[in-house]
Amino acid sequence: MTGSFSQSAPQICEDFMAILATGCAGFIGSNFVRSWLANDGETIINLDKLTYAGNTNNLADLRGDNRYHFVQGDIADEAMVSELLGKHQPRAIINFAAESHVDRSIGGPGEFIQTNIIGTFRLLEAARSYWSTLDTARQTAFRFLHVSTDEVYGSLEPNDPPFHEGSVYAPNSPYSASKAASDHLVRAWYHTYGLPVLTTNCSNNYGPFHFPEKLIPLVILNALDGKALPIYGDGQQVRDWLYVEDHCRGIAAALEGGTPGEVYNIGGRNEMSNLDVVHAICSILDEKRPRSDGRSYTQQITFVTDRPGHDRRYAIDARKIERELGWRPQESFATGIRKTIQWYLDNPQWVADVRSGAYRDWIEHNYTERTDHA
Ligand code: NAD
Ligand code: TYD
Repeated sequence: MTGSFSQSAPQICEDFMAILATGCAGFIGSNFVRSWLANDGETIINLDKLTYAGNTNNLADLRGDNRYHFVQGDIADEAMVSELLGKHQPRAIINFAAESHVDRSIGGPGEFIQTNIIGTFRLLEAARSYWSTLDTARQTAFRFLHVSTDEVYGSLEPNDPPFHEGSVYAPNSPYSASKAASDHLVRAWYHTYGLPVLTTNCSNNYGPFHFPEKLIPLVILNALDGKALPIYGDGQQVRDWLYVEDHCRGIAAALEGGTPGEVYNIGGRNEMSNLDVVHAICSILDEKRPRSDGRSYTQQITFVTDRPGHDRRYAIDARKIERELGWRPQESFATGIRKTIQWYLDNPQWVADVRSGAYRDWIEHNYTERTDHA
């Protein structure tokens, strides 16, 4: 297996086959659900609060598919989650739900503490209570998979080796600190209560349905709109970009083959500076949708005030999931970014719908406060 979706887990019986997945109206979760069902996966119940980042249009194509159920609700609502678990008897929970944007966490950390820490705690408690009611075979087969980030490990120096599963946690933003706390809770629920958990820590994702507050979709859409392409600081910060479907395949591989209590790092061996990412996007847009004046989209690049506490470099050592679970990324950055740009060009209605009033308010708030450093 090279990381394809595989539903090969021991199936206890037909009434123990559903998955409860949280936060799947967002970017990664919606891609996961689509790939999961396209690969003949079992029923998925998507529990999502529908914050500004949640968008039911992301899974509009699944309306009418009786393997997909949407429930609007908060992972911190333990009683409601317990009721859902009792009703659907899932064999696994996958926790995608989170507040996920670093810049928002700097301006307002409260929601990050509430959802990423308290929410994960409540979800773990509901899971533990449900799990304790299962018979031994089901208890053994059950999984709680927590989707996390490489940002919990902090920032690397240029010559440091990439993060591995034993790297020390050193989060620097309210976002990464809240995710780090949630990872620790998940770990503790395994060691203390025996809940069969798995944690995946992945590098930066990109691909279809990415909310345009994040670097890659923001730059694609700003370029097409003739707006500034804002680069924080000197643009030499490095991220290890992974195409979202490769991440989803990694999650599926961990769910089916991962060992309870273990952590799996997922990353694309694709370190790039922000400036190089923006140049790559501009050059593909120059070819696919040239500017009317014939000049390159790079003309729109603008250096702006840096993010406080900005991590300099992330990089992932993914050898464990490659070795133990046979996962490999299937897209290079060159192929993945082309697909992504094409998707944004092909989906203007989706773009128009997400750029609601709330989105415009955020863009105004985040970028008018940043001075140009041209
Ligand atoms: P996203 O912001 O696009 O989506 C988050 C989803 O969670 C939204 O649909 C939102 O409505 C929902 N949500 C938020 N609070 C909730 C709550 N209290 N209860 C129920 N639902 C709630 O995020 P994403 O980029 O899809 O990230 C998904 C997960 O993957 C997160 O846990 C994130 O930390 C992790 N992750 C993201 C990346 C990345 O590059 N985007 C990389 C590694 C890990
Ligand atoms: P982002 O997509 O917000 O992801 P994360 O902060 O989780 O890595 O940002 C990716 C990188 O791009 C990060 O180094 C910050 C930088 N960045 C900009 O330079 N300009 C922008 O407008 C944004 C949103 C991000």
